[in-house]
Amino acid sequence: MAKLLILYDSQTGNTEKMAEAVAQGARSVTGVDVDLKYYAEPKELAEADAIVFGAPTYHHEITLPIKQILEEAATAGAKLDGKIGAAFGSYGWSGEAPDKVLEILKNRFEMKTIEPPIKVLYEPKQAQLEECQNLGKHVAQELIGK
Ligand SMILES: Cc1cc2nc3c(=O)[nH]c(=O)nc-3n(C[C@H](O)[C@H](O)[C@H](O)COP(=O)(O)O)c2cc1C
Repeated sequence: MAKLLILYDSQTGNTEKMAEAVAQGARSVTGVDVDLKYYAEPKELAEADAIVFGAPTYHHEITLPIKQILEEAATAGAKLDGKIGAAFGSYGWSGEAPDKVLEILKNRFEMKTIEPPIKVLYEPKQAQLEECQNLGKHVAQELIGK
């Protein structure tokens, strides 16, 4: 079965709400195994067919847990080229993190990225949660070739 990995960090729960909505959308598509969590080892990334990152912006940066996942994967030489990659995240005023994640997925790992990322100012509203659901659904449908 096609595997979709959703990895996120969230310190005050806003990106977490987005992550849950992405997972909900993805799970509405049958035939895709959806895993939602904070951390995955390089091997798990290499075994996934698509990886979606939830990255809130703190101090104009990607937070440490997400950076760690990406750095470990790079160090281990995880082969992610050609896999689907996407990003989303909550922010307060500048919101660089999802863009930076996508840039790494595209240029360092040569993933097939979905752009632009979904960025939400603080707490996601219903319409923004629906946008996140649609992203999850879209990625899952791509995986089963719909
Ligand atoms: C210490 C601190 C630093 C922050 N730095 C930034 C920043 O540089 N740019 C930005 O857009 N938002 C910044 N924010 C706002 C957060 O991105 C925002 O609160 C977001 O909703 C947090 O998402 P989360 O609930 O998933 O952790 C910062 C918040 C805190 C508490």
